[in-house]
Amino acid sequence: MLIRRNIAKMSQEAKEQTQNVQNGASVNKSNGTAENCKLELIVPNTRTRHVSGGVEEIVDPFCDSKNPKRISFHDVTSAAFLIKGGVERTPCPRSTSSETYGMELYFKKDFLQYTGSFKERGARYALLSLSEEQKRKGVISASLGNHALALCYHGWKLSIPVTVVMPKAAPIMKVQKCRNYKARVIVEGQDMGEAKSLAMRMSREEQLLYINGYDHPHIMAGQGTIGLEILEQVPEPDAVVVPVGGGGLIAGIATAVKALSPKTKIIGVESEKCASFSRAMENNGPISTPIKNTLADGLAVPKVGVNAYATALPLIDRMVVVKEEWIAVAILRLVEEEKCVVEGAGGAGLAAILAGHLDDLKGKKVVVLLCGGNIDTTVFGRCLERGLAAEGRLVKFNVEVSDRPGGINDLCARLVRLGVSIKDIMHERAWLRDIYTVEVKVICETRDWEHSLELKNELKKYYAKVEFSDVPLAIIEKTL
Ligand SMILES: Cc1ncc(COP(=O)(O)O)c(C=O)c1O
Repeated sequence: MLIRRNIAKMSQEAKEQTQNVQNGASVNKSNGTAENCKLELIVPNTRTRHVSGGVEEIVDPFCDSKNPKRISFHDVTSAAFLIKGGVERTPCPRSTSSETYGMELYFKKDFLQYTGSFKERGARYALLSLSEEQKRKGVISASLGNHALALCYHGWKLSIPVTVVMPKAAPIMKVQKCRNYKARVIVEGQDMGEAKSLAMRMSREEQLLYINGYDHPHIMAGQGTIGLEILEQVPEPDAVVVPVGGGGLIAGIATAVKALSPKTKIIGVESEKCASFSRAMENNGPISTPIKNTLADGLAVPKVGVNAYATALPLIDRMVVVKEEWIAVAILRLVEEEKCVVEGAGGAGLAAILAGHLDDLKGKKVVVLLCGGNIDTTVFGRCLERGLAAEGRLVKFNVEVSDRPGGINDLCARLVRLGVSIKDIMHERAWLRDIYTVEVKVICETRDWEHSLELKNELKKYYAKVEFSDVPLAIIEKTL
């Protein structure tokens, strides 16, 4: 109740601030960060800096490392007021697996937004905060996916022209969807760096406002509205677990949650393949971190945002880094147990719990953010298989059996008796020393780890040569 009242009061203030915002004034008059947070809402003058090889790069004036901007709680309430009715208030139910995980677990299901991710909150707020002149001219951004979808969709709904530059690696489906939302979509650049350079140049030439997908202050403030909703839905949680890419999401949520419930711990999660926030913390500031292929492509940002870092750092209690295979298991568990389809970034929070990184929260009230559901169907299939394999429920073995009539039949009959389901089977003769044997390669499904062990022991009783493949990347400290 108290939180509801606070938010209502803040909303009134936010209403007044919103008026100021639309008149082009500061969004934040309330605390020491007021100077920092002054946002011009039309294209400001840009400056360039030299990067390696003498190349000139245009600096985004809203994300200037020399002058990082921190958002405040009032920025988040301004955003909540403006975007209300334009984005979904997503559910945050108690997980049916709370007992399994030993904690009172809640899932904030923001993948249920229309375009499949939380990114709509920040995108809509940034668009609504533009000056009337800028609304006519339009905005531009570079993005691989979720931010582009959100910006294009809300630009279309608000009749604000949107241009997105998507690198050539962007999934075709996402490019097509952005086009369906009537945006100007330019597919250019080998990576995000090249796409962004082009977008920045176009922003200057065409007077379009560049909106960084994780570091623009309005984007962070919009994402912070998730924090307000969480506290209304789950009062005083012990911890909120948030996936981290460029840092805007956690910066916004931490700003909201710590203002209303200071004891709630804010825990960030990154994939081992792109731990750029953890690297920034070691380095005392954002630094380029090499990123590798990851299931959590939404988190694959080489350098966290300067504003996001400055805002989030004092508010975050802990960062954890998870192995990729746990993300695959999390995706599998969320489908099987919660009936939720999430992308890798969306599963990272549960992955941290499954990996045992948050065991100190056992018995506590924990909210995990499921922030995105835009996963390619083929990647989804592979994740499920990897998850099953990582849990020891999908196993692969080679066995040499007699090549006399009935040899392979006997093997299959044994598998049937054990209740094991064959997914794939092939046999090979040419390379074997014994002319009367055949090597059979089997991929099969079992109930669980113990069932796989039973299978192995049973086969060893009957066949001299049985070899089980390792569990991929061995996230579970057991071997078959
Ligand atoms: C689904 C999903 N989750 C999490 C993130 C991370 O958000 P941020 O870059 O603001 O840290 C992203 C970013 O694109 C995302 O798409």
